[in-house]
Amino acid sequence: MHLVIINGPNLNLLGRREPGIYGSSSFESFFEQLREKYPAIRFDYFQSNIEGELVTALQQYGFEADGIILNPAAYTHTSVAIGDAIAAINTPVIEVHISNVHAREDFRKISHVSAKAAGSIIGLGLKGYELAVNYFQDSKK
Ligand code: DQA
Repeated sequence: MHLVIINGPNLNLLGRREPGIYGSSSFESFFEQLREKYPAIRFDYFQSNIEGELVTALQQYGFEADGIILNPAAYTHTSVAIGDAIAAINTPVIEVHISNVHAREDFRKISHVSAKAAGSIIGLGLKGYELAVNYFQDSKK
């Protein structure tokens, strides 16, 4: 099985960025642990701070990967293009947010992604990415 994790802007700073909200682990160390825990899964990881690069990554992986786990970060709340890209591709996408966006500012309650995604996992920290992996694993059986 081939799963791709795509992270949006500022998520390259995880571990250093507002640790009270996003935790103190870097994504790289979490990703390493995920790879070790699920050796049978082929993982790719892509992070960008640029909206169009996230659209391009969705297009590139979206016709060959078995699943995409996407945290579009702030672009969740603004990007029609990312929502359209999810609708355009064949690979199912799970939307993940580390923090509970519904318990934060009102602008974070809007998602251009949720309606196009297979599902959303919100507010469960980095564990949300692993729960998405488990979903794809179980749905492949
Ligand atoms: C986030 C929530 C977004 O509102 C925010 O802009 C982020 C991260 C999350 O994972 O909790 O950058 O997607």
